[in-house]
Amino acid sequence: MPPAWNDSPFLKAVRREAVGQVPVWLMRQAGRYLPEYRELRAKVSFLGLCKDPALCADVMIKTVQRLGVDAAILFSDLLLILEPMGLGLDFPSGEGPVLGNPIRTAADVDRLCELENMDCLQFVVEAVRQTRAGLPPHVPLIGFGGAPFTLAAYAIEGGSSRDYRATKSLMYHDAAAWDVLMGRIARSVALYLNAQIDAGAQAVQLFDSWVGCLGVDDYRRYVLPHSRTVIRQIRAGVPVIHFATGNPALVPLLSEAGGDVIGVDWRLRLDDACGMIRPEQAVQGNLDPVVLLGPMDEVRRRVREMLAQVGARPGYIANLGHGVLPGTPVDNVLAMIDTVHAWQVTGA
Ligand code: CP3
Repeated sequence: MPPAWNDSPFLKAVRREAVGQVPVWLMRQAGRYLPEYRELRAKVSFLGLCKDPALCADVMIKTVQRLGVDAAILFSDLLLILEPMGLGLDFPSGEGPVLGNPIRTAADVDRLCELENMDCLQFVVEAVRQTRAGLPPHVPLIGFGGAPFTLAAYAIEGGSSRDYRATKSLMYHDAAAWDVLMGRIARSVALYLNAQIDAGAQAVQLFDSWVGCLGVDDYRRYVLPHSRTVIRQIRAGVPVIHFATGNPALVPLLSEAGGDVIGVDWRLRLDDACGMIRPEQAVQGNLDPVVLLGPMDEVRRRVREMLAQVGARPGYIANLGHGVLPGTPVDNVLAMIDTVHAWQVTGA
């Protein structure tokens, strides 16, 4: 018997098959907006949590149960892969991530090690295995990783950045070193995602969270070939969601770089987004997470507006355009999910 997740609305939408109900899940669905997550975090550091597979599995399984979403995503972090590649990683409380000994010069690029195996990241493999084992069989599990640009930007800036000047300086002034760096990251991420697939993930999402700081010509020259390398190396038959935020002009290029599903943010209408991607690609997104701050009838109205924009086009997965914000009322998250599930698919 094929596994139950094959017939889930999520995987059907990924394959652009007809669905009875539009599937929905949320980026950062397990996070600080949930009181039970904050309670857990009072007892364990964020990195301590990420490195404890049983806790990671428990956090996501309980979140999926509470929200009634159509897919689970591995509980982990984008930046963990950079530690075994040679960077220091810390999440000081109340601040964003900090990476020690950032990469600034061509000589620094040489000390970024390519990931050759998962020996130092067994806790991620184990978290996937335990999450898969504990989820109901009809709920697919999404693995994830950072796209090469976003990981390179963190490695170079040493944390979040406003203008990405160190990243762009290396890119513009030493293109050869940039390509070496991006190639090394791309192959590492492909290995990392395939390990998550082998451990039980049904799909993977590539997050290019910071690539919106680039214009289209720079994306094509400096990023697209490397994102394409990652996507082409993913195990055949396993769907890839390719997500970026910040610059809607990049959507056609994101589509060209590849992915079975293109994840878009709220800066463009979903019907316009559908016109910018290849017909065989599904689309995911794109509610502004700030809408979820309230009020609730506005949440419901905006969700219906989003669903109406997709119309009858097959291959749609409802989501936010970026992660759930801390401080979001749980009831508004539930209202979004309920409104998506109540939508009459054929009524479009
Ligand atoms: O619920 C889920 O979506 C699963 C888990 C998940 C986390 N991070 C948990 C997390 C996922 C998929 C991510 C991806 C991630 N991590 C991204 C890509 C998505 C995006 O937001 O663009 C990025 C850029 C990161 C790096 C990162 N991790 C940042 C910038 C921060 C700090 C910002 C913040 O919200 O505090 C983190 C920390 C982080 N990752 C938290 C969680 C639940 C909050 C940490 C805490 O508990 O204090």
